[in-house]
Order: sequence, then structure tokens, then C-alpha cells
Amino acid sequence: MAANVPTPHIDAALGDIAETVLLPGDPLRAKYIADNYLEDVKQFNFTRNMFGFTGYYNKKRVSVMGSGMGCPSMGIYSHELIFNYGCKNLIRIGTAGSINPNVKIRDIVIGMGACTTSNYVKLFNLPGDFSCICSYELLKKAVNAAENKNVNYHVGNVLSEDMFYSLDTLENAKKWGSMGVLAIEMEIAALYANAAAGGANALGILTISDSILTGEETTSAEREKSFTDMMEIALSIV
Ligand code: HPA
Repeated sequence: MAANVPTPHIDAALGDIAETVLLPGDPLRAKYIADNYLEDVKQFNFTRNMFGFTGYYNKKRVSVMGSGMGCPSMGIYSHELIFNYGCKNLIRIGTAGSINPNVKIRDIVIGMGACTTSNYVKLFNLPGDFSCICSYELLKKAVNAAENKNVNYHVGNVLSEDMFYSLDTLENAKKWGSMGVLAIEMEIAALYANAAAGGANALGILTISDSILTGEETTSAEREKSFTDMMEIALSIV
């Protein structure tokens, strides 16, 4: 299925990117993971500074690349990774705001499904609403890894929103929360829809950086620790 490379946004040759790709929003996070967790690393993308790297974790080949922020950006990179580079497992790692009183800052949320306020999924022009769901195989592995690490984790629905600085954040959060949605982020719906369209497996693993209900935020040291837990869960399912 892989074809037509390089793409407009990824300047890599076929075979430069592993079947499994971790996708943090921030390309400097991708570099941090490559520098600190992977061996034998080769950088495969410099275009737009959306850095991508391939290396080995526990002898398994894995890539890590920035996705940017929002469904359009995640939509572009995950589409090219799946349709042009033939990537099979795409795992978003990122932060989210909690909209559920039981989901505390620093907790991990694994996105079983993703609602969205973005138009991205509608643009597949299906004759109804598509349910953006994760790969059950990847979910099972992530849950096992979270159990083994003894971290606080939740599995459920998340919201991929388009407007970070919404005027109605709190009212909207309460409405989504009343439907059982756990947390808000900005990219997973596009990732799950693209993975479904391309026959790939996808999963979103999030750490809670703030509570939209209480305004509580993590310190940078806390963010670092919960980021490490999330990343280790993602790497352990590679
Ligand atoms: N909205 C969207 N994305 C986020 C948030 C939020 O409140 N917090 C962390 N990532």
C-alpha cells in the first residue's frame, strides 16, 4: 500500500520509518524520546521542523515523530505515515484537560473512543456519524502495561476539540462530561479516523495536565514524571 514518497510533509525514503510510530504533538518531545530512550537513532524528517526519528527500543524498531496540534495537523502526518509509508501502529502520546471529577491531574487516560468538535471526520462524507475508536489490540497491551506500572489510569471516551481558547470551555466541558467523556485534547479523532480509513491500528495515551473543572494545573516537574509513565507505557506496547 505504501507509495509516492517523499510526501509534501515527510522527506523520508520508504523503509526509513518503522511500522510503529509514537506521535507526541511537539517535535522536540519526539527528539527528547529519541535522544533518551532509543538506540541507533536516525532522523528521517526535518521538513517544517516536524522532526521524526527511527531507532530501537528493547531491540524493537520504532519511530517517533511530532504530529503538531489539532486534527488538521495530525490528519496530514498520520495520513502520510499510513497511506504513503505503510505504518501500521500509530500511538499518540500527549496531554489533556480532565473534565471528570474522578480523573485527577497526573492520571493517565487511554482513549477508547474520541468525540470531536472538529469537522475533520465529517469530511470523509459518510452517510452518518463515524465512531472514532482505538485498536482493541493496542488498547489491551496499553492496559496491561499500565497495570504493571501501577499508575492511576482510566479508559474511556475523550474529546478532540478544535478550539483551545473556547469562550464556553466550562459549559461545554460539563456537557461532554455528562456524556461520560473523560478528558479534552485536540488530535485523537483525526488519528482514529485515518487509521480506520487506512486499515492501521491507532491508540491515544494521555496524561492529565490540568483540570478544566477546577483550574488545577500540574507543575513542570509533575508533567515530566507523568509524561515518563505515559511514554514508557507507549514504548512497552511497541
Ligand atoms: N484542551 C485541549 N487540549 C488540552 C487541554 C485542554 O484543555 N489541556 C491539555 N491539552
